[in-house]
Amino acid sequence: MTAVTAAPLQAVRPTLHFTPPQGWMNDPNGLVYFDGEYHLFYQYYPHERIHGPMHWGHAVSRDLCHWKHLPLALAPDEQGTCFSGSAIVDWHDTCGLFDGEPGLLAFYTVHREADDDPADYVEEQCLAYSRDRGRSWQKYAANPIIAAPGFPDFRDPKVVWHEPSRCWVMALACGQTIRFYLSEDLLEWRLASEFGAEQGRHTDGPWECPDLFELPVEGAAPGEPASRWVLVVGVGAGEQDAFGSFTQYFVGHFDGERFHNDNPAETVLLMDEGRDFYAVQSWSDIPEQDGRRLAIAWLNNWLYAKQTPEAGWRGAMSFPRELSLVATPEGVRLRQAFAREWRALAAEPAGPAWTEAGLTVGRHVLVERGARVAHGRLALELALDAVIELDLQQGDHQTLRLTRDGEGVGISHLRQGENGVAEFDTHFPHALTVGRLAGQGVELEWLLDDGSLELLLDGGRLSLTHLGFASPEGRPVICRVLAGGCRLTAWHYDAIPG
Ligand code: FRU
Repeated sequence: MTAVTAAPLQAVRPTLHFTPPQGWMNDPNGLVYFDGEYHLFYQYYPHERIHGPMHWGHAVSRDLCHWKHLPLALAPDEQGTCFSGSAIVDWHDTCGLFDGEPGLLAFYTVHREADDDPADYVEEQCLAYSRDRGRSWQKYAANPIIAAPGFPDFRDPKVVWHEPSRCWVMALACGQTIRFYLSEDLLEWRLASEFGAEQGRHTDGPWECPDLFELPVEGAAPGEPASRWVLVVGVGAGEQDAFGSFTQYFVGHFDGERFHNDNPAETVLLMDEGRDFYAVQSWSDIPEQDGRRLAIAWLNNWLYAKQTPEAGWRGAMSFPRELSLVATPEGVRLRQAFAREWRALAAEPAGPAWTEAGLTVGRHVLVERGARVAHGRLALELALDAVIELDLQQGDHQTLRLTRDGEGVGISHLRQGENGVAEFDTHFPHALTVGRLAGQGVELEWLLDDGSLELLLDGGRLSLTHLGFASPEGRPVICRVLAGGCRLTAWHYDAIPG
């Protein structure tokens, strides 16, 4: 690793990424599209810059780039604090709370701790409703709609409509499994099945924040199903684990009651290979003519979330992503793209217009003084035994390293940075071995903003999302060829004005 840069780590408000007005934020909650607005609720403690009694903060956007803050949606009461959950449009007033009109329903977990011991808690599922486009919320009088089951970790309801069985489904994190509950009226719920024991990856932390959706499969072979279901699961940080919290997913079939995994139980699929993409949730009720599955994540890791640099507010969301499924030789896999809305904000492409260039051992400056917010795309072909490092305006703080051998291109990610807080300084820096791409080339797309660097490789098949607190302002984009050589075969750089 190269030496740590002297510039201090600082929290600066990003331009494209959502941050709370003040205080603490974690998971995105209640993502729903209604009447021209994307709603984003979030785990919020407005009074301190640390996780505390949870509220639901609220913002709306029409373009996924500019967000308008709205008053708090939910606040703690004697039943408990308001943990994560989801929202839907009840178009046909199935629940009977909306006088026959469409209305918004939010499903959330109340978390109630014993007075003398925060580690002694119960969790129950509750409902809140809004008749005025989410501007005000009433808690349902007969809460909880699902009572505590007798074990503590029982949370994060994600409610979806299952058209073939014409039934509502709630995916719920229960210890280290996901349970599926069913309902006809959105008020009474019955347990249908449980998935997850011995499946995928487990740490000694709980499973959290499930999501469930169906997507068409691009490139499905004749005779293979045209669509698959995806079950997304947040895996809590294990005590002994240096990586911290992460997001895995399963691909399979949901039959209205049960989730059937297409892959062997031991297959582990990560939605993001980086360390700061957690509590992912997708938007409900995106209009059919749009047809996208849009999702957002909390840009953080529970291992150091409470010690990150702050400036009166702490916590940011990822940029929204478009999710799709694609058939690969290994099976059906998720693919991600940055929500295309960022393009409307981009200025004219900046920097030298590289078309094709051979890069030999040495330091090649692709952009001399980068913009504070930027989108870039490049493709490289690496000579056998080439070792390349890319600095995408994070200086020595974050480096992507590519190493070509006879089997493909190995990818690793280095991150440095200290803020003088022991826990952060221990857990934040890393040298991650990310994986390997077959062939000799790498395609990379990135989104840079204050506070984060989001990387998509291999056409979005591999996602690598990281907090980065080094100021990107005026920094260069550099390709360092340490050994061998490479050809730059595609290059595009957009500055995004703040
Ligand atoms: C995930 C999580 C959820 C919980 C919320 C509490 O980050 O632990 O499981 O509902 O945060 O704020």
